[in-house]
Amino acid sequence: MVFSKVILPSLALASSVFAQSRDICDGPSITIVSSADADSIAGCETYDGDIIIDPTAQGIIAINGVQQITGDFTCLNATLLTSITSDQINTIQGTWHLEDLTILSNLQFSSLTGVNTIEWIGLPALQSLNMAQGIQRANSVYISNTQLNNINGIELSAVATLNINNNPYLTDVNVNDLKNVTNALSFSANGRDLSISFPNLESAANLTFRNVSKIDMPSLATVGGSMGFYSDTFKTFSAPNLTTTGGTLAFVDSPSLTSFAFPALTTIGGGFLVANNTNLKAINGLPKLATIVGALDFAGTFNSVAMPKLTDVRGGSNVQTTSTNATICELFDSAHDNGVIKGVNTCLTSKANPETNPTATGGGTASTGTSSGDSNGNAAVTFGPATPLAGLGALFAAIFFI
Ligand SMILES: *[C@@H]1O[C@H](CO)[C@@H](O)[C@H](O)[C@H]1NC(C)=O
Ligand SMILES: *[C@@H]1O[C@H](CO)[C@@H](O)[C@H](O)[C@H]1NC(C)=O
Ligand SMILES: *[C@@H]1O[C@H](CO)[C@@H](O)[C@H](O)[C@H]1NC(C)=O
Ligand SMILES: *[C@@H]1O[C@H](CO)[C@@H](O)[C@H](O)[C@H]1NC(C)=O
Ligand SMILES: *[C@@H]1O[C@H](CO)[C@@H](O)[C@H](O)[C@H]1NC(C)=O
Ligand SMILES: *[C@@H]1O[C@H](CO)[C@@H](O)[C@H](O)[C@H]1NC(C)=O
Ligand SMILES: *[C@@H]1O[C@H](CO)[C@@H](O)[C@H](O)[C@H]1NC(C)=O
Repeated sequence: MVFSKVILPSLALASSVFAQSRDICDGPSITIVSSADADSIAGCETYDGDIIIDPTAQGIIAINGVQQITGDFTCLNATLLTSITSDQINTIQGTWHLEDLTILSNLQFSSLTGVNTIEWIGLPALQSLNMAQGIQRANSVYISNTQLNNINGIELSAVATLNINNNPYLTDVNVNDLKNVTNALSFSANGRDLSISFPNLESAANLTFRNVSKIDMPSLATVGGSMGFYSDTFKTFSAPNLTTTGGTLAFVDSPSLTSFAFPALTTIGGGFLVANNTNLKAINGLPKLATIVGALDFAGTFNSVAMPKLTDVRGGSNVQTTSTNATICELFDSAHDNGVIKGVNTCLTSKANPETNPTATGGGTASTGTSSGDSNGNAAVTFGPATPLAGLGALFAAIFFI
C-alpha cells in the first residue's frame, strides 16, 4: 500500500501533463492536402489513427517520418494526385484504400512490409509498384482496374483473400513466397496473356482462375475449398502434388484446353465439373481419383473418359458428349449399376448440344431421373487391360479400378 501511495500521484501528474499538450500522434485522424500537412506528423513513430489524403491534393504527397499507422490510409478521388510516397511507414494496421486516382502513377513505400487490407480500385495510371522491402504480410488484397503489369512488391507468404480483377495490362504474377491462402484467391478479366506462378503454394482454401493464359502451382498439395478454371486460354494444366480438394473441381469454357493432369489426386470433396472445353478430347489424367463427394458433370466433345481408380461418386452423374463413342456410356451406366455412382446417372453420346446439370453439381444424391445411354451390357466391349471374357462388373472394374 505504501508503495502504491507513492507511485499514484506521480502517475496522475504525468497523465495530466500529457492531457494538456495532447499529442498530434494520438489521432484520431489527419487529413492531408499537401506534403506540408504530412510534415506535422513526421515526428510520430506511430500515428494512432487514420490518415486521409484529401480529394483536392495535387502532385506529390510525401508522408515521411511516420513508421506505423494504427488505422486506415485512405485516398479517394484525388484526381490531380500523381504520386504518394513514404520513406518509413512499415505497417498500416487498417485498410489501405486508394480509389479513383486517375493520374496516380507512383506509389513508393520504401519501408512497407505489413498491411491488414489492401483495396486499390480505379488507378488507371499505375503501372508498377515501388515497394523496396516488399509487402510480406497482408490479410486481404483487392486490386481492380489498375494499369499494373505485375504485382511485384507484393511478396506475401500467406494471405486470407487475394482478388485481382480487371487489370487489363497485368501479364505476369509471380508470388514466390506464397505458401498458404486461407480463404480465397481469385483472378479474373486481367491481361489477355496473364501468366501466374505460385512456385511454393502448398495449401489453399478456394482458387478461381478466369481468363488466365498460364498457371503454375507445382507445390500445391491441398485445396480446402473449391478450385475452378473458367474461360482460360492455357492448353494444359497440371497439379502434380495435389491430393485432395474440399470442394468442387471445375474446368469450364476453356477452348484451348487439351488435357489436365492430377497424378496424385485421390478425393474431390465436392462436384467435378468439366464443361464446354471444345478441344478437350480425353478426360483422363486422374490415375488415382477414388472419391467424388458431389456430382460428376461432364459436357463437351470428348471421345474418351478414364478414371481407373474411381470407386465412389456420392452424387449423381451427368455425362453428355457429341462423340459417338458408346463405350463412354457403357462405362457410366455400369458404374451406376455397380453402386459406384450413388445418384442418378444420365449419360448421352451423340448429343448435338451437350448440357450440364447445374443442380447436380451441387452434390448430394438426386432423387429422381432416368438412366439413359448406350449401355448394352455387352462384355465384348473392352477397354484398357480388361479381359474380353469379363462380365459387366469386371468390365467396370477394369475401367475404374486399375
Ligand atoms: C469519385 O467521384 C465521382 C464523381 O463525383 C463519384 O462518382 C465516385 O463515386 C467517387 N469515387 C469515390 C471512391 O468516392
Ligand atoms: C471458400 O470461399 C467461401 C466464400 O466464397 C467461404 O465461405 C469458404 O469458407 C471458403 N472455403 C474455405 C475452405 O475457406
Ligand atoms: C473473361 O471471360 C468471360 C467469360 O467467362 C468473358 O465474358 C470475358 O469477356 C473475359 N474477359 C476478358 C478480359 O478476357
Ligand atoms: C495455412 O493456414 C491455416 C490457417 O492459418 C493453417 O491452419 C494451415 O496449417 C496452414 N497450412 C500450411 C501448409 O501452412
Ligand atoms: C511434392 O511432394 C513431395 C512429397 O511430399 C515433395 O518432396 C516435393 O518437394 C513436392 N514437390 C514440390 C514441387 O513441391
Ligand atoms: C456451356 O455452353 C452452353 C452454350 O453456350 C451454355 O448454355 C452453358 O451454360 C455452358 N455451360 C457452362 C457450365 O458454362
Ligand atoms: C471410347 O471410349 C473408351 C472409354 O473412354 C476409350 O477407351 C476408347 O478409346 C474410346 N474410343 C475412341 C475411338 O475414342
